[in-house]
Amino acid sequence: MSDLTGRTVLVVGRAGGIARAITLAVREAGGQVVVAGRDPEALAAAYDDPGVTAEQVDLTDERSVAALAGRLGRVDHVVSTASARARGVVGELDHDTVLASFDVKVLGPILLAKHFAPRLPADGSFVLFSGSSARKPTAGMLAVGATNAAVDVVARGLAVELAPIRVNAISPGTIDTGAYDGLGEQRKAELFAARRAGSPARRIGTAADVAEAVLFALTSTFVTGQVLGVDGGEPLV
Ligand SMILES: NC(=O)c1ccc[n+]([C@@H]2O[C@H](COP(=O)([O-])OP(=O)(O)OC[C@H]3O[C@@H](n4cnc5c(N)ncnc54)[C@H](OP(=O)(O)O)[C@@H]3O)[C@@H](O)[C@H]2O)c1
Repeated sequence: MSDLTGRTVLVVGRAGGIARAITLAVREAGGQVVVAGRDPEALAAAYDDPGVTAEQVDLTDERSVAALAGRLGRVDHVVSTASARARGVVGELDHDTVLASFDVKVLGPILLAKHFAPRLPADGSFVLFSGSSARKPTAGMLAVGATNAAVDVVARGLAVELAPIRVNAISPGTIDTGAYDGLGEQRKAELFAARRAGSPARRIGTAADVAEAVLFALTSTFVTGQVLGVDGGEPLV
């Protein structure tokens, strides 16, 4: 079993979804968690646990990232789940939407690495979030896929630059985190039924599936520069 006793993990993201599952999994493994995001009140309200503290950060603002690094004491691991969606076929995309996607998910982790790596212990690590659209082109996922492919490159590049600090990326497939609720109940059910039928794992993923992989990345001291697919094999077919 993964053991994070005595370790502090910074988890950037929202109060629910994958970030929440990671926070609960780290606590279960004995670690302390600092949850950070744009809405620290919502984050604080989401946990009734003295082992979880909430902080403010906006990954598109370097001063905010630097200030968070300055406020926190020792941090052993940094996990960034933050993303800004840029779904749509090419004719629907606009400059600002695509830029926001890269800003949060690619530049954000680069800024986290810049300001936190000097404070991490040699056996610390970063976990970035990519997505299976980097490897499986689907109509409407152009900018999301390009963003995720860039995350994969950043994870490998940082693993070389920051060594011996480890850097890995998790690449989820379709995970039911509420991220698809905007489609409406019926379209979401149809999409999930089609993805379930086409997936080698024959199911939709859960936030707990992803959190398990994050714990593996945090505690596997011989794993770095990897993009770990947690996707039920979706990109294979
Ligand atoms: N769910 C899936 O099926 C799936 C599939 C592939 C990849 N992924 C990736 O897995 C990760 C987690 O997914 P999820 O579905 O749990 O979460 P999500 O719905 O993508 O939430 C990401 C959160 O990031 C936060 N965020 C946005 N801009 C930010 C900024 N400038 N600074 C700090 N935080 C910011 C937002 O929280 P606030 O609104 O509270 O600020 C947002 O809700 C994401 O990177 C996602 O792209 C998910």
